[in-house]
Amino acid sequence: MNAKELRNAYVDFFKKRGHAYIPSASLIPENDPTVLFTTAGMHPLVPYLMGEKHPAGKRLVNYQKCIRTGDIDDIGDSTHLTFFEMLGNWSLGDYFKEGSIKMSYDLLTEVLKIKPDNLAVTAFEGNENAPKDMETYNAWKKLGFRDDQIFFYGMEDNWWGPAGLTGPCGPDTEIFYDDGRKKCGPKCGPACKCGKYVEIWNNVFMEYNKKEDGSYVPLSQQNVDTGMGLERVLAMMNGVKSAYDTELFIPTIKEIERLSGQKYEDNVRAFRIIADHLRSATFLLGDDRGVAPSKMDQGYVLRRLIRRASRYMRKLGIEGCRMVNISKIIVEQYSDVFPELERNKEFIYSNLAAEEEKFNKTLDRGLRIADRMFEELGNSKTLDSEHAFRLYDTFGFPIELTKELADERGVSVDIKGFEERFKEHQEKSRAGAEQKFKGGLADSSDDTVKLHTATHLLNAALRQVLSADIMQKGSNITPERLRFDFNFDRKMTPEEIQKVSDIVNDAIKRNIDVVCEEIPYEEARRSGAIGVFEGKYQDIVKVYTIEGVSKEMCGGPHVSNTGDIGGFKIQKEESSAAGVRRIKAVVGKF
Ligand code: SER
Repeated sequence: MNAKELRNAYVDFFKKRGHAYIPSASLIPENDPTVLFTTAGMHPLVPYLMGEKHPAGKRLVNYQKCIRTGDIDDIGDSTHLTFFEMLGNWSLGDYFKEGSIKMSYDLLTEVLKIKPDNLAVTAFEGNENAPKDMETYNAWKKLGFRDDQIFFYGMEDNWWGPAGLTGPCGPDTEIFYDDGRKKCGPKCGPACKCGKYVEIWNNVFMEYNKKEDGSYVPLSQQNVDTGMGLERVLAMMNGVKSAYDTELFIPTIKEIERLSGQKYEDNVRAFRIIADHLRSATFLLGDDRGVAPSKMDQGYVLRRLIRRASRYMRKLGIEGCRMVNISKIIVEQYSDVFPELERNKEFIYSNLAAEEEKFNKTLDRGLRIADRMFEELGNSKTLDSEHAFRLYDTFGFPIELTKELADERGVSVDIKGFEERFKEHQEKSRAGAEQKFKGGLADSSDDTVKLHTATHLLNAALRQVLSADIMQKGSNITPERLRFDFNFDRKMTPEEIQKVSDIVNDAIKRNIDVVCEEIPYEEARRSGAIGVFEGKYQDIVKVYTIEGVSKEMCGGPHVSNTGDIGGFKIQKEESSAAGVRRIKAVVGKF
């Protein structure tokens, strides 16, 4: 079975069971500041899990592009990937535990032909927030599972979400492939790391909303959110140990062999890092809301991926700028499934080449600074953590590189101190990320909803004042402010800013109703509604109309009358990237 067959088999299976196929959303969450990247198929669906009506219905299926960079330093082993595809199906207040478990079982045994004896499952053991999940246990028993195939675990293993600090979450049942080997010890089970059990699917029963005060309250509806890692299942179906040994990676690995003159078998880790990171970078740059490398947020992560790949390419002896060679293979390979890569290939290649060249320069400067640091050590035989961390932080030197350089000079590095600093730094970034979690339409708080409607008014006003070609390039809303990126290649004049802000405030003062309709996509387009859509179009879309001002396809939610916004003020207009301007604005009474 190849990747295409697996995607199709999954989608067809659920389509036959009443699910509507929805296209993969962008890797960059729209209007959801809770995370930098889409990390699971459920992310773009948060408003619908919270109770908003989805235009495609209550049963959905898709394959979603995802990025997870939490364990970027583990890349190189056989299981971790920064980019992956998640196959998923959802029930939005429709079927629940038993229905979901039965469908998963049928797909695994009938479509993927896994023997029931090779499956093991887990369930939530219960705590003060939610009871022991006997419903899940009974559903598996009903399908013939023996007690030694069902394992109960606590919060850490069998509770998923919320994605941020708050939001939909619940107990889950994880499904594992058991390779049939003997248990490694009496405690061996799906939570054991010995490799006997490989997780293939996670079915989350999202019936709770975690609030900011840490309490769990029942959601208005009981949802199912499932996720299956495509690459991992593909490897399993083909009897290979790792995704890197599947058709998804073999062409890239061959190209790295050709460019470096080295063998994959002799340099497994370096090859995997390059292949993984450049796949993620290609998808991030090639997204319709693609980002360029930068010092902040998604752009910073992208930069890290590219630079790390670059360092390993240099390590394998690949001279000059060769990333585009590798990226081209990825674009060709994936364009039929993710046509945005082909659409955005010029952006991908030009940014990759520019960043690679820039880093080659930083790398050289960093090496010179490192040399000086070693010289200045004098009699000390240890490079302290402050210096090691500076090389990491300022020049992007991974600690292994610093250590290698130190080894060559017979010097050691205070790795422990470095790790402490690194952890501190990570905690700071995590705290930053958690801060982001607080807002967003995920919570549908009053302020974010107001800002969301204000964003539509702003978008319309910009098209009126600047050009009808204005397109939204990104939107991010926290409870404090909106941030809107759009294509425009010069600074706006103060007069233009005033005009835009007047149009928005005028619409607010006129107390116009915000009307939502669900209509076929084609009809929406013909009616002149604007909106960013990825991939294939859904049949029925939501259109929010603010009569005489704005008509936009969007998932919502919005205020019911523009008067609810109170007032609107532009705080900043600045450059965001080449050809992209950014506006930050606030709402309220001024
Ligand atoms: N959201 C769950 C996960 O990421 C199921 O898709 O595992």
